[in-house]
Amino acid sequence: MTSACASLYERYLAPRLVHGACSLNVVAEQRRRIVPRAEGVVLEVGIGSGLNLPHYAPSRVTRVIGVDPDAALLRIGRKRLKAAPFEIEVVRGSAEDMPLEAGTADTALVTYTLCTIPDVERALLDIRRVLKPGGRLLFCEHGRSHSPRAAKWQDRLTPLWKRMAGGCHLNRSVSRLIETAGFAIESVDNYKLPLAPELIGFHYLGSARPR
Ligand SMILES: C[S@@+](CC[C@H](N)C(=O)[O-])C[C@H]1O[C@@H](n2cnc3c(N)ncnc32)[C@H](O)[C@@H]1O
Repeated sequence: MTSACASLYERYLAPRLVHGACSLNVVAEQRRRIVPRAEGVVLEVGIGSGLNLPHYAPSRVTRVIGVDPDAALLRIGRKRLKAAPFEIEVVRGSAEDMPLEAGTADTALVTYTLCTIPDVERALLDIRRVLKPGGRLLFCEHGRSHSPRAAKWQDRLTPLWKRMAGGCHLNRSVSRLIETAGFAIESVDNYKLPLAPELIGFHYLGSARPR
């Protein structure tokens, strides 16, 4: 791909492909398992096209602060953002350095986002900073398989996959990253999505508290 084609792909096509993949019913089923647990002031990191918004329990949520650097995805989601039945603030920026005060959020939510953030270690430290000390991180992510054979293939394919899939890494160890950033994992369910290949379908769904 020439660099002009690559940048057109990244700016216009990739956000639509990401939105399409994230809109699948099987993905919505995973959202239903985690998003309704959010409460109070929610920091949603990588809010993208707002596909989690219909899954929040409006009676539990006072405000959602959505952070995302991708103007194209935010534009795709603008109707959903407007229709949200709770206060919503969108910050166009990166999770690595959020312009938000420490201790702002009761809940931080990440869905299919830790795979894409360039400096994910730094982003998790900033999420921990913005969470209240007694707050909770909810996560639903695909990542590194527990099968050594599949993980080896994830390592091999990630450099190419990253270029095609908007920066997505197949091989991140989600639980380890969360723990290294100073969280204690309360619960994590590891499973493979039905019908999806292990390489992209291996999931981490659960919650963690700042230590
Ligand atoms: C696969 S999409 C998932 C979007 C949404 N969380 C969902 O579940 O539909 C990955 C998201 O991570 C966002 N992202 C990428 N880099 C980021 C960063 N540095 N900080 C915050 N979000 C980022 C992308 O813009 C995109 O919205």
